Amino acid sequence: MEGALTTSNVPAEYLEYVFLLGGFPIIQSRSDPRVSYGVYVPKDHYNELSNSTQEKLPLLVNIHGTSRRMTALQVDEQLPKFADEIGFAVLAPLFPAGIEGPNDISSFKVLHTDSLRSDFELLNILDEVAYRWPGIDTTRIYLSGFSGGGQFAHRFLYLHPDRVVAASIGAPGRVTYPDKSKSWPQGVSNVGEIFNTTVNMTSLNGVSLQFVVGEKDTEIHGSSKFWEWLEEVMGSADDLPPMNESRLDTVKKLRDTWTEAGVDSLLTIVPGVAHDSEDPAMRKALWEFLGDQMRTRRSESHSL
Ligand SMILES: *[C@@H]1O[C@H](CO)[C@@H](O)[C@H](O)[C@H]1NC(C)=O
Ligand SMILES: *[C@@H]1O[C@H](CO)[C@@H](O)[C@H](O)[C@H]1NC(C)=O
Ligand SMILES: *[C@@H]1O[C@H](CO)[C@@H](O)[C@H](O)[C@H]1NC(C)=O
Ligand SMILES: *[C@@H]1O[C@H](CO)[C@@H](O)[C@H](O)[C@H]1NC(C)=O
Repeated sequence: MEGALTTSNVPAEYLEYVFLLGGFPIIQSRSDPRVSYGVYVPKDHYNELSNSTQEKLPLLVNIHGTSRRMTALQVDEQLPKFADEIGFAVLAPLFPAGIEGPNDISSFKVLHTDSLRSDFELLNILDEVAYRWPGIDTTRIYLSGFSGGGQFAHRFLYLHPDRVVAASIGAPGRVTYPDKSKSWPQGVSNVGEIFNTTVNMTSLNGVSLQFVVGEKDTEIHGSSKFWEWLEEVMGSADDLPPMNESRLDTVKKLRDTWTEAGVDSLLTIVPGVAHDSEDPAMRKALWEFLGDQMRTRRSESHSL
């Protein structure tokens, strides 16, 4: 990051001209150029002089799904509008498909492949964001992800609960249960070997959690014949099992296992919505929870 323009070395009146305020261009990560990210910083809220931890701007990290659409950030700007309203910055990492071969669309969701630890890569990107925008709080993030992004988000929570204030886990299709008899990514038996860390479900209670899924998210992606065929032609690059349950069932089941493990969470079932990340009600459910968490924390810190 040496030589980078930052909000500490650019005159305040030029910040917008170098895109440090508003929408920053999608940029490659310095630590792994295969991965890139978009950032949005609300002009009216970012104060480059506010280095005190209390006044730093919260960061919402939005993880894309399998299709990698950046619509919410770049096309319809729904997230930037919400960020302006509440006062938070947005980070949207882009883990492109194809990193581990021409047919790889899912490896980022399981956090480790032969050549990438996508969880570490997010942490590296957070360091870059902290360097460029010292007024953004990157030490503890607000995390949201829908579908494949919900897969990434809940797995990231197993490994890095200390880095997350609140998380909204949207409609993951294939999940990791806190099951010590099954290996990652179906369970957590070998987390020590793969990730050199342990899963501590108690520490997840330090995170405000919401599971969210559409009431009509009841279809299974691909028939059992499709999944058999896929495994035959591709093998299992990401070790994810075939999808054999609806996301509505999976989300309820995952939440139940977390509840049994002593982890509190909210379950939000969005009426009338299927598996649609672009549905306004779905987005609202995902982000409003995090916005409410930010508001609450802000008013608590001001009343101290
Ligand atoms: C803010 O913090 C950054 C990094 O910690 C430091 O380089 C910079 O000088 C600080 N700015 C002010 C105004 O204190
Ligand atoms: C594993 O984690 C421990 C404790 O966090 C650390 O000291 C050690 O260097 C790590 N080992 C590897 C191979 O990364
Ligand atoms: C798990 O996390 C809790 C809360 O952070 C902590 O009190 C406890 O000591 C941890 N357990 C282990 C085995 O590290
Ligand atoms: C789906 O598959 C998993 C293992 O891959 C299994 O544990 C589970 O019971 C299956 N569920 C159904 C409804 O068949």
